[in-house]
Amino acid sequence: MKFTAPRGTKDILPQDIPVWRHIEDTARQTFCIYGFNEIRTPIFESTELFERGIGDDTDIIQKEMYTFLDKGNRSITLRPEGTAPVVRAFLQNKLYSSGQTSKLFYSGPMFRYERPQAGRYRQFHQIGVENLGADHPSADAEVIAMGFHLFEKLKIKNLKVYINSIGDAICRPVVEERIKQFLALNLKNLSPDLQKKFEHKPLRILDSKDEKVQLYLSGMPNMIDSLSQKSKDHFNSVLDYLTTLKIPFEVRPTLVRGLEYYSETVFEIVADDLDGAKNTLCGGGRYDKLVEEFGGPKTPAVGFAFGVERAALLIQKQKKFKTKLSPNFYVAPLGFSQQSRCFKLINDLRKHGIHCEFDYSKTDLKGHLKVANQLSASHAIIYGENEANKKAVLIKDMTTGAQTDMSLRKLPGYLMKLCLL
Ligand code: HAM
Repeated sequence: MKFTAPRGTKDILPQDIPVWRHIEDTARQTFCIYGFNEIRTPIFESTELFERGIGDDTDIIQKEMYTFLDKGNRSITLRPEGTAPVVRAFLQNKLYSSGQTSKLFYSGPMFRYERPQAGRYRQFHQIGVENLGADHPSADAEVIAMGFHLFEKLKIKNLKVYINSIGDAICRPVVEERIKQFLALNLKNLSPDLQKKFEHKPLRILDSKDEKVQLYLSGMPNMIDSLSQKSKDHFNSVLDYLTTLKIPFEVRPTLVRGLEYYSETVFEIVADDLDGAKNTLCGGGRYDKLVEEFGGPKTPAVGFAFGVERAALLIQKQKKFKTKLSPNFYVAPLGFSQQSRCFKLINDLRKHGIHCEFDYSKTDLKGHLKVANQLSASHAIIYGENEANKKAVLIKDMTTGAQTDMSLRKLPGYLMKLCLL
């Protein structure tokens, strides 16, 4: 019987790990500089958390959740995103009690039953941030700048922010009415699915992935004109901050995003592929009502999440990602009787933090040197009877072939210096 990974999932192989580590480490460092602290939440939550948080009319809730009954007959869902769980944790652990804003970040696998394609998986990894408690437009600009800064540090080229405002609950009916007026002219050309959304959730139509619908929507009047003065002022202030920081942005009147908790600012950070295609790396926005909807105190919030697979793909496509490998050493016993001594030597060297390898299926020097080459070891450490009598080893540089005698006492220091070169 042959097993393969389930459709839409993939193994992250050892050769991909350096770029993943690089993304994760750079994200952690960047978020810490901006004052965000890590939080870890469970991979599964109650289904209701997502239904209430993300919204019934979204594709995620209607089609994409991995939901099952556990043995206690509870409906459980593998998390499709991180915002609702972080808000749940914020409330459950009363993180609001300090009165300070909570700046949190998280990373880990998410699950959505989507049609798999390049950069779109059923198990994917997100790194996200949430600033809970901040209502000032500078908080929106801060998270956008932080995302942009991170992608710049990762040397992802041709970055741009797409941004829009969908207003707050007060101006939402006006915005929705404007959209309906525009769409009414062409209602019969919309799919039955979109026609259903027309009456109650016209904003969701703007989120359609259908290219024909998107082309038609490009002629839609600017939504910003229908916002209340308060929402307009908030949005313009966010744009002013971005201009001050020289962050390239484009206001996209049809940008609404696929989750229902958003209000006011919504944004995406996109990057051009080598072939010019736009890749959405990151999505986010303000969600000022979600904490209250979950039964918490009034807590405006803003955040984003990005897909690690997409970032890794872009980094690998846009430039060849190189990792500097520290030299590793291969320890070759000369003769069976030396194996045990070598085993102890390897153990001692590893305790000094030195990366060394061995292979006792080989018994002669030629065989050992062949393995050392296959492992790309920088040096072979040869240890025979003669060397043992002198309490020394012979070090062979695998590139130049040069050989050096070294006492066992000085060996760890010598190898550590080589690692620093
Ligand atoms: P989202 O736009 O659904 O937002 O996802 C954010 C990012 O996750 C996307 O831009 C994309 O890079 C990645 N992503 C989403 N789905 C997939 C997939 N199937 N395969 C690979 N990558 C994917 C959220 O999840 C919000 N919780 C973001 C947020 C945080 N808003 C406020 N705070």
